[in-house]
Amino acid sequence: MKGLLLDNYAAVSEYAATLVEEQVRGNAQSVLGLATGATPLGLYENICNSFEERGVSYKDVRTINLDEYLGLERTHPESYYTFMNEKLFKHIDLAIENAYIPDGKPSSVGEECVRYDKILDCIGPINLQILGIGTNGHIGFNEPGTNSNSTTHIVELTPSTRKSNAHFFQSFEEIPTHAITMGIKSILKSEKIILLASGESKAEAVKTLLSKQVTERFPASFLWNHDNVTLIVDRDAYQLVELERQ
Ligand code: PGA
Repeated sequence: MKGLLLDNYAAVSEYAATLVEEQVRGNAQSVLGLATGATPLGLYENICNSFEERGVSYKDVRTINLDEYLGLERTHPESYYTFMNEKLFKHIDLAIENAYIPDGKPSSVGEECVRYDKILDCIGPINLQILGIGTNGHIGFNEPGTNSNSTTHIVELTPSTRKSNAHFFQSFEEIPTHAITMGIKSILKSEKIILLASGESKAEAVKTLLSKQVTERFPASFLWNHDNVTLIVDRDAYQLVELERQ
């Protein structure tokens, strides 16, 4: 795992955007693995803001999102489909039919998992996967305890994940209890992975990750088994590691 320490969230977001743009410039038909949550918002903002001036086209790009809440229609204001559309897709020239996100309200959840794995097999491998890290070490919605061999599956969200995502919902009860997520095995099939971590709330997770102990109890630690991961971290998220090294 390579590491890059930057001053703040703005710098992390800007740098991550340049990596995405480099990827798409180098291969106009890139497959991008995308994440939701607060962390990649700045990255998406940079891509949208610079979209016209930097002349990067996404018209032949395909995107595969990591996860979706179970029980929310696509059109729900807090669905990840809505998130991606509002924060990125509608601002760039991506063809919406080339954007893949699990269906949060499928007629059969089992069949939806199989369908999503088939999509990954058909259009993958993902050339560049963007990841955030949960305070409990999750990647995608692969919560602690997830097997490293996992493919797309249904998860019960931990109370800490539901709490972390509470600010997006009106009340705690409204936060879905389950989600559908790409598995660890699927994520690790990506050619390159960028893991973003910003802010004090991620300091403990970054410290645990950098202890290099690979364990199901901390799913992000499986990224140590991949040979092309770049952790882009800001000072606030790195502070506990820095303290330890003093
Ligand atoms: P966040 O979440 O970006 O909202 O902090 C990261 C994650 O849970 O993967």
